[in-house]
Formats: sequence, structure tokens, C-alpha cells
Amino acid sequence: MEANAINKLTLTSMTADEKLKLARFLDTTSDFLSTGYKQGDRDYHFEDSDPVASHDAQATADLKPAGLQAEDSLEAISLQVKNCAACSLGEGRKNAVPGEGVPQPLVMIIGEGPGADEDAGGRPFVGKAGQLLDKMLGSIGLFRESNCFIANVVKCRPPGNRDPEPDEVAACSPFLRRQIKLLKPRYILCVGRVAARCLLNADGSLASFRGKLHELIIEDTAFPLLVTYHPSALLRDEELKRPAWEDLKTLRAKLEDEGGLTP
Ligand code: URA
Repeated sequence: MEANAINKLTLTSMTADEKLKLARFLDTTSDFLSTGYKQGDRDYHFEDSDPVASHDAQATADLKPAGLQAEDSLEAISLQVKNCAACSLGEGRKNAVPGEGVPQPLVMIIGEGPGADEDAGGRPFVGKAGQLLDKMLGSIGLFRESNCFIANVVKCRPPGNRDPEPDEVAACSPFLRRQIKLLKPRYILCVGRVAARCLLNADGSLASFRGKLHELIIEDTAFPLLVTYHPSALLRDEELKRPAWEDLKTLRAKLEDEGGLTP
């Protein structure tokens, strides 16, 4: 069906000469297949296509691939991330880390950027901090395998685990925004100051972002967003575990209130 439509479009935009060549080519091919090769021209009379009609046909044909691209998908984003050269982080990566989890998750967790373990394996939060993150999420019934999606603000590892530069965040943020738009998470949980600053487009300390319900607006959709400590911070400072647990309980209560999780 698709191929026929394209063939019709192609024919309506051909000149008489092109049509003649195509007809002769098809004749020769069909002769060759049925009786063996036999040369000889048949008589054809073609006219050039109407330039307006053929222009319209071409315009429609041009729209086809654009229409297909307009249907975004997580797979398309992953592929583009893996081939991305929009900033210098791409030059040093072993693997890009697009993110992983389920579509339409209850919670999308957003960190800062891949570290060495994530760069080596192409998966987010798989090192020590990631293992702690999995435990923290598991304690409130959240799992990347069943009801979460985990991603980062930048998809390639900043060298030496430095904070991503503003131009790197700017180059990568269309990927993250497209992911959020497609995933439609019930809640976004931002882990760490860097991710919170990027997503909320605000300066501030982690303490100033915690304990409040924020909103991330993408096109016409508002995504509720909470902020908590980055698991690496908890590994450095045990005392942060208690307030982080408070943040997780807040998230859990919201999910219970809204029917995402049963009490
Ligand atoms: N830290 C992050 O912010 N993201 C990861 O994927 C791993 C560590």
C-alpha cells in the first residue's frame, strides 16, 4: 500500500522521457524473465506530468518522511543520543546513557550525568550510588523494572565526574524533554542540586528545593516534581539519609493519594 502510493507519486512527477525509459526498462526485464533476453523498442507515447500536480505530488512525498519523524519514540531518542555529537562530551564517552525503565512510569528519576560505571555499561545509576538509589526506591515500592524510568540531565559522562557545563546541558536538554513528554511520568524525582537547578531553571541550594512540590511545564503539560539528595551525597554523609527518607515518604504518600500505589 505504502509502496504503491509512493510509486504513484513518483510517476505523476516524471517527465515523458523518464516514463519512456522506465517502460523500456520494465519491458526488457519482463522479456528477460519470461523468454530470455530479447531486444526491440515498442511504441510508447507519454506526456510530461502537469507541473502543478507533480509539484503537489512531490510536496506530499516530501511530507512522508517528515511525518514519520514527527512521531517521536523512546527508541528514536536512544538512537539519536548514542550518535549525538552536539557537545564535546560525546568525544570522550565509551557509551552514551539514554536512560532505562518502563514507559508511562509512576516516577521518572532524573540525575545529573553518567559516571564511570554508567559510561562503561551504557546504563544509568549502576555504580555504588545507583545501587543505593535502587534500595531507596525499593523501600517505597518503586523499581526501574516495573514502575520507574531513570535518566540523567546529560547523557554522556562529564570527564572526572565534574558538573556538566551550561552548553552541555543545553545541548542535551531536548532529549530529556522529549523523554519526559513521551513517558508522561506521574511524578518526577530530581536527585541532586545539579539536576534540580537544570530542570527548575533556577539557582539555589538543594535545601531550598527540597520539601516543596514543584512543577515542570513541557508544552501544555505540568509534571509535578520533587527534589531530594543525590545518592552520592548520602554515601558521603550518613546524616543526609534521614531527610532523604522524609522526601521519599512524601513521594510515596502522594502516589498513594493519587492511586498510583496502594497503601
Ligand atoms: N550519578 C548520576 O547523576 N547519574 C548516574 O547515572 C550515575 C551517577
